[in-house]
Amino acid sequence: MTRLLLLGAGGQVGREIAALAPGRVPGLVALDRAGLDITDAPALDAALAAHRPDVVINAAGYTAVDRAESEPEAAHLINAVAPGRIAAACARHGARLIHISTDYVFDGTKAGAYVEDDPVAPLGVYGISKEAGERAVRERLDAHLIVRTSWVYGIHGANFLKTMLRLARERDRLTVVADQKGCPTATVDVAEGLLAAAVALHEGRMAPGTYHLAGTGATSWYGFARAIIERAAAHTGRRPEIVPIATADYPTPARRPANSELSSEKLAQAIGFRAAPWEPRAAGVVDQILATSAT
Ligand SMILES: NC(=O)c1ccc[n+]([C@@H]2O[C@H](COP(=O)([O-])OP(=O)(O)OC[C@H]3O[C@@H](n4cnc5c(N)ncnc54)[C@H](OP(=O)(O)O)[C@@H]3O)[C@@H](O)[C@H]2O)c1
Repeated sequence: MTRLLLLGAGGQVGREIAALAPGRVPGLVALDRAGLDITDAPALDAALAAHRPDVVINAAGYTAVDRAESEPEAAHLINAVAPGRIAAACARHGARLIHISTDYVFDGTKAGAYVEDDPVAPLGVYGISKEAGERAVRERLDAHLIVRTSWVYGIHGANFLKTMLRLARERDRLTVVADQKGCPTATVDVAEGLLAAAVALHEGRMAPGTYHLAGTGATSWYGFARAIIERAAAHTGRRPEIVPIATADYPTPARRPANSELSSEKLAQAIGFRAAPWEPRAAGVVDQILATSAT
């Protein structure tokens, strides 16, 4: 029986893990930011002492990629310093740690899908802070999984899919970047994969280390937007024009990798988990959102 302590339970991934855990692991304690601030080292020790988890999942993070450029200290504290504190607390209390990281640790210059030991070279403050967090975890705790995911969307919280659904209601014409490629990943896949990994890690069926967990297949933001809006049109009848644009035509504070496709083969080989193909998964999430909204 695997006892789990989930940190960052209020985020889009955290909420999904908390929702799916009851059927998959018998014991879960889920703490959102109000329940536990991951930068608070004494509070981390107290939580581990109180709940005695076998595995801690850290789903908390500073995730505002563009805002991070003007708030580097906050990004560093939450994404780099705090994971080190969590790992150190896990080491003191004999717990294992699953820490979530990102495709944005890569610079996007590779032609194919990134594998786990490809060199990291983040382009912006967010990616730099997440990469530092990976190192902080590796330095302090052997019994860890660092699981990189990408382009995350789901029914909870704010994400690209929900932004596209809103813009499709509000506008007749959308412009979307077509020269950045990656793997859209549903929170339900992240949650199922991490819960399976938590049990496998606890039972000694999985080697510690770094893994990728991303939706199967890759596309551009433009391709992702088209799939979302096409599916939404089946519900709403609204089919705004979607115009592909270049990154250069959509300046943002943070630079992003042109290619951040992740190979999730190592995780599949380790525990047999594969995320769903991104397109039908995204369609299912659109259906779920529109079926329950007033749109
Ligand atoms: N979203 C993506 O596309 C994406 C892609 C690759 C990797 N990831 C990684 O996936 C993980 C989960 O991201 P997500 O998409 O679920 O992001 P999210 O929806 O922004 O959730 C992050 C959660 O962390 C909480 N948090 C921030 N600072 C905290 C602190 N000091 N103590 C406790 N909780 C704190 C936030 O609370 P508040 O809302 O109160 O700030 C929020 O609930 C992160 O590690 C992220 O880097 C995400």
